[in-house]
Amino acid sequence: PIHQREYLLNGEMRPWTGNVSEVYSPVCIPDENGTLQRQLLGSFPVAGPKEALEALEAAVAAYDNGRGEWPQMAVAQRIACMETFIGKMLEQRSLVINLIMWEIGKNLADATKEFDRTVKYIYDTIDTLKNMDRNSSRFRIEEGIIGQIRRSPLGVVLAMGPFNYPLNETYTTLIPAILMGNTILFKTPKHGSLLHYPLLEAFRTSFPKGVVNSLYGRGADVVPPVMQSGKVNVLTLIGSSRVADELQRQHPKLNRLRSIMSLDAKNAAIILPDADLDVAVKECLLGTLSFNGQRCTAIKIIWAHRSVADEFLKRFNPEVSNLQPGMPWASGVQITPLPEPNKTRYLADIIADAEAGGASIVNEGGGETEASLFRPAVVYPVREGMRLYREEQFGPVIPVVVYDDEEEFIQYLITDDHGMQASIFGTDPEAIARLIDPLVNLVSRVNINAQCQRGPDTFPFTGRKDSAEGTLSVEDALRSFSIRSAVATKDT
Ligand code: G3H
Repeated sequence: PIHQREYLLNGEMRPWTGNVSEVYSPVCIPDENGTLQRQLLGSFPVAGPKEALEALEAAVAAYDNGRGEWPQMAVAQRIACMETFIGKMLEQRSLVINLIMWEIGKNLADATKEFDRTVKYIYDTIDTLKNMDRNSSRFRIEEGIIGQIRRSPLGVVLAMGPFNYPLNETYTTLIPAILMGNTILFKTPKHGSLLHYPLLEAFRTSFPKGVVNSLYGRGADVVPPVMQSGKVNVLTLIGSSRVADELQRQHPKLNRLRSIMSLDAKNAAIILPDADLDVAVKECLLGTLSFNGQRCTAIKIIWAHRSVADEFLKRFNPEVSNLQPGMPWASGVQITPLPEPNKTRYLADIIADAEAGGASIVNEGGGETEASLFRPAVVYPVREGMRLYREEQFGPVIPVVVYDDEEEFIQYLITDDHGMQASIFGTDPEAIARLIDPLVNLVSRVNINAQCQRGPDTFPFTGRKDSAEGTLSVEDALRSFSIRSAVATKDT
């Protein structure tokens, strides 16, 4: 086990002697009697408001109203520090991948992808920043005025990542925020906290003191004092809409706070009457069940036209049932234990609610559980009024709705509180085109004959309504964590 007894504050690894939180893996292993046992992975500090405010003050001091070493440093030098960081991050690759796998139950292939995608994201961000920086030279803006437009930092950033991409999604905000000259406090997610520990030393030795500070502990203890201080300039959260509302309210000058957030989503896929069902089945399988459906971009409800619903389910259900459940390190395993406590009970509850309304599990083995492992369940026919119709299940349960007229689908999106992505499956270009225009104004990305997803990371990643604020992507993130500032010189 890894027992973390230090944290990164103001350029030092500070020893920790206070309370700790034990980390148990969602992966349970049978003991000699065959009883499944939870595995202790280690423990991490549970800081309180005092340490949170110390971390905040370190970031505030390092920023020093924009006069600190980091915000004043030339972009090329900041990039050099980041390249040093990448080198040190790579030294921890195998440990971090293993921790992702054990802490949140992500299978080995996806945990590896998460790490490598993150490294690529950092390289791509550096390249994009180099291009942006080239464009900041001086030019004659109009007769008599020489202008220069720069990208300047915003100040102190509070960054919080989610459990499902604990490394990647924390870094997709953290890294551009650092590169643009801001100073940071980053709060690790409760599930997926320990995996950040091996990288703290890399931050410490790659950047000036106070630029990156870690924040451990319960969000409810450490985040409110930081927000209430009014000293956070940018709040970035990949998490739930409820938490986002709560945090924003805590800032004394909400309208001065920039928020960059990716939040709840209920991404819907529509299967048109002429859809290629092989394509639809393959993409819906990936879209609904990659990492057990625990992705903000997962397809969370499928709308099948009445004329193809039976045939779609006939092909889809066995594919769902055939996904291999098991331990995340075993080769070929696709369904793995769920890290959120009581998640299996929650999933059973929303299925029971749909059953009470007349729907049922239509795939073999769907809904069977063993400890924190939950066999994916296709629930059909789901109707308005059932919890699964609107609630974001964030897990391996797939509601299928049958429709007659595509206007019903559009009305569903109009009346939904979310607006992240949608998928259209069909072969008639005109029918697809007819849907794209309304849909793209209701969600932030429409996928044609393809699952919903965030990548490629150069694509804008955002959402409408309760699903997001601000936009991420390699380039958008650099813009989000900076302001265009100008210097105008009178040419006499
Ligand atoms: O959980 C939300 C993630 O942004 C999903 O990313 O589509 O690459 O899996 P992904």
